[in-house]
Amino acid sequence: MALPITAGVLSTAALALYLNAKHHLIHDLRHGRGGLAPSPSHVSYLAARAASKRVLTFHVLEEQAARRPEHLFLLFEGREWSYGAFVDAVARVANWLVDELGVEAGEVVALDGGNSAEYLMLWMALDAVGACVSFVNWNLTGEGLVHCVKLCGSRYLITDSDVRHNVEPCRAQLDDLGVAIVYYDASFFAALPAGAPIPPSRTENITLESMRGLIYTSGTTGLPKAVVMSTGRDLLVGHMTAQYLGLTPSDRFYTCMPLYHGAAHGLCVTPSIHAGCTIVLGRKFSHRTFWPEVAASRATIIQYVGELCRYLLNGPSNPHERAHCVKVAWGNGMRPDVWEPFRQRFNIPVINELYAATDGLGATFTRNHGPFTAHTIGLRGKLWHWRHGDEEVRVKMDVDTEEIMRDENGFAIRCGVNEPGQVLHRLDPELLASVPGYYENEEATLKRRISDVFEEGDLWFKSGDMMRVDSHGRVYFVDRLGDTFRWKSENVSTNEVADMLGKFPQIAETNVYGIAVPGYDGRAGAASIVMADGVTESTFDFQALAEYARSVLPGYAVPLFLRVTPALEYTGTLKIQKGRLKREGVDPDLVTGEDRFYWLPPGSGRYLPFERKDWEAIKDKTVRLT
Ligand SMILES: *[C@@H]1O[C@H](CO)[C@@H](O)[C@H](O)[C@H]1NC(C)=O
Ligand SMILES: *[C@@H]1O[C@H](CO)[C@@H](O)[C@H](O)[C@H]1NC(C)=O
Ligand SMILES: *[C@@H]1O[C@H](CO)[C@@H](O)[C@H](O)[C@H]1NC(C)=O
Repeated sequence: MALPITAGVLSTAALALYLNAKHHLIHDLRHGRGGLAPSPSHVSYLAARAASKRVLTFHVLEEQAARRPEHLFLLFEGREWSYGAFVDAVARVANWLVDELGVEAGEVVALDGGNSAEYLMLWMALDAVGACVSFVNWNLTGEGLVHCVKLCGSRYLITDSDVRHNVEPCRAQLDDLGVAIVYYDASFFAALPAGAPIPPSRTENITLESMRGLIYTSGTTGLPKAVVMSTGRDLLVGHMTAQYLGLTPSDRFYTCMPLYHGAAHGLCVTPSIHAGCTIVLGRKFSHRTFWPEVAASRATIIQYVGELCRYLLNGPSNPHERAHCVKVAWGNGMRPDVWEPFRQRFNIPVINELYAATDGLGATFTRNHGPFTAHTIGLRGKLWHWRHGDEEVRVKMDVDTEEIMRDENGFAIRCGVNEPGQVLHRLDPELLASVPGYYENEEATLKRRISDVFEEGDLWFKSGDMMRVDSHGRVYFVDRLGDTFRWKSENVSTNEVADMLGKFPQIAETNVYGIAVPGYDGRAGAASIVMADGVTESTFDFQALAEYARSVLPGYAVPLFLRVTPALEYTGTLKIQKGRLKREGVDPDLVTGEDRFYWLPPGSGRYLPFERKDWEAIKDKTVRLT
């Protein structure tokens, strides 16, 4: 049900309640720390935009262009656009969408392509004509791609001709669904005739609760799910993030994270538009282009994910890596072993770590200059607990079943100091419409919820993340639920093991996971490792690694198996892939590819090559793993 919002009808207080109910705004705001406080000004901001019927990110862009037409909006591979020039380009694309494709307000349109100026033009043009953008992962092909296009019900797949090789194999299936493939490239857009401005009446019916976009989950455990983003949420995240980061027009914000994903979308592009600053867009991440692009563009803030930082730290030194203008690195997933070395080597004063998920509730922030909050993703002080301790909790998990543990009365058990547990956020059963849901997937939406947690009838949202809080209230990310495994009745956090192995000088990168071994309960620890530059299997010190692992990890957490691989597998958003490695384990009949295996046999002081006879010995129990 869509209620019309007009400031004249509702008082500010009533409006605040209404907006909060619709969008769970206060919930999100409250979870912010360090500058992101719940503020009536955010509510009035939304109310004013709703009243003037200018609720789109495109509207904000248009206003910035009117204010400072000559100011630099976008730098991409040496090309640049001022705000004014970019809005003109958007108008050309928007007119093409309307005149040639007949795109209507409210229609969902699938967009597929890598980072480029044209991609950003299309996103803004679709926004401008009131369409709802379905941000398809350009890395998809086959079943995954067809699934996403079908799910969102788009008539078109508007695609960068660069990803033709992913799209063409699906042409027959897309034809059957009635989906037309439309390719674009830079020269096509440059040749479009100048267009009239988009009439405001086109978007007159879009309200804060209208669906604005669909952003897909990575689908590492099945087909991608589409997360619905409302117009109000999109607007507010951009507005608040710009404020939280203190962005000003003179900032230059570099991202090479994919634009189809929530992080580049809501934590870089929309905040930059709200601030009227300059976006420096990288086509994709590469350690060769990263520092040269950052330095040449005079970027003042860069966006990261943890794995990007690790790559850079493992990479060869670059003449630009300290000679740049970056003041702040902003992102999520920076691991403890990377944090301080990253700051020091690359000469970046502030690391601003955030924890949030596209399909999650709540977010935490740490603006870190020094050791007290280093490696943490948030701080929960006394005041925080007094105000919100009842809305966000960590509960103990059964590591094997991945279910929430229950006490004798059937209720969940809160974690104590330093005890890892899944983070839950309380839901108000009356406000469910505002909780992030998956598009056309009620089952998956409901699976994220759980009731009767602390009392009958209560309702909570499962974050899927394991965290712990120390006695100072510092919050640490422990593992994604399902990654932590049990061995010899102990819980092993794959992240914590990986952090330790990552410090071994001959290891560049590592991916830790638990594998099933016949005849054993729980899972045995395995680590896929990429050797540091110049190190080979003949020069790698397998004895030193065994000694090091035993000295820094409890016995049960020392990986029993190593899988030596030339490169780790990542998703397009640089999340590490564990699924295939877990499935294959060390079973010679399941393992694919050329990776080499080692193991730590009982009583051995070093890792030794692992062969089929060793696997047979484990299976027939002539060898017992310890
Ligand atoms: C997806 O991206 C990865 C890493 O960038 C690449 O290796 C792979 O070939 C890509 N797959 C497709 C289908 O584009
Ligand atoms: C907005 O809604 C009104 C009333 O339903 C309708 O007449 C009008 O055509 C709609 N405008 C657009 C651009 O869809
Ligand atoms: C493992 O985790 C479970 C659930 O959080 C907890 O009850 C148990 O005590 C942990 N085991 C150990 C040995 O820490």
